[in-house]
Amino acid sequence: MTSNVIQVSVSDVEQLTDSIKSYILTPVAEEKLPAFTAGAHIDLLLENGLSRQYSLCSDPADTGSYQIAVLREKNSRGGSEYIHQHLKPGSQLTIHPPRNHFQLEESAPHYLLIAGGIGITPIMLMARRLKALGKSFKLHYLARTEQQAAFADLLKQELGDQCQCHFTLGQPENRINLELLVADQPPETHLYTCGSEPLLQSILAAASLRQDIRVHFERFAAAETTEVVENKAFEVELASSGEVLEVTPEQSILEVLRSRGHEVETMCEEGLCGSCEVGLLAGEADHRDSVLTEDEQQEQSVLMVCCSRAKSSRLKLDI
Ligand code: FES
Repeated sequence: MTSNVIQVSVSDVEQLTDSIKSYILTPVAEEKLPAFTAGAHIDLLLENGLSRQYSLCSDPADTGSYQIAVLREKNSRGGSEYIHQHLKPGSQLTIHPPRNHFQLEESAPHYLLIAGGIGITPIMLMARRLKALGKSFKLHYLARTEQQAAFADLLKQELGDQCQCHFTLGQPENRINLELLVADQPPETHLYTCGSEPLLQSILAAASLRQDIRVHFERFAAAETTEVVENKAFEVELASSGEVLEVTPEQSILEVLRSRGHEVETMCEEGLCGSCEVGLLAGEADHRDSVLTEDEQQEQSVLMVCCSRAKSSRLKLDI
């Protein structure tokens, strides 16, 4: 891995709900941490060898520390479980600087923000930013119960009527009607959402009936697909050297690049984090990531080499 790393120490841990803890991270060597904007995340490089991404939820104007909130997942792959068990005040850890693949576009006439559970962390900063800018917006915060909704009280205090919480209490009939909610939005609304895959799919389905609404989302995990996709072989050409490499159906572009000694920074290796982004100079990519928006995918100017493949017989990469 080639990116910069930053050493931080945990200066405070707070139990926000039964399963969510907040961690304040302060720099070990410097006074300030790198600046960030609403929607940014950091990578935590854990001592058990895992790396995990968490959205920043502290005030971007205060770079003396970062705050993240971590849900202890029931089916933890080892990341959230480790963090909850091992990170205590005084613990030191390594992080990557913030990256933002979930940028808030600030010129829309109206914003609809929908957060599902721990998806509130990036959305909360967006709501605060929009409030500070005096923008028209409404935040809908969806959770099972009030006790499970981290930051809900704070947000209600700060945002008043601009924040509406919806608690299902485990009853399907208490679920918000997303189709009606989306249908009711003013023209050219920008919809930002972060939550589970089923929530995202319902929102995308509702928004597909309103072509003027622009949806921006962040996923928790790679999109599941039931579609069987057949992989074909293709070539990649490296612009700097003119080298042409073959990618077989069984290999990823990343594997081929590495096998030839080309270093590519990666984190998730499943199309979620955006760290393996490479410029695309020619050819048509078959985008299989969850990072780029549909528009960005259509632009065909970058691709995630960990998971994406080619529709054309050759891709020219900016490497
Ligand atoms: S390594 Fe995360 S998107 Fe490729």
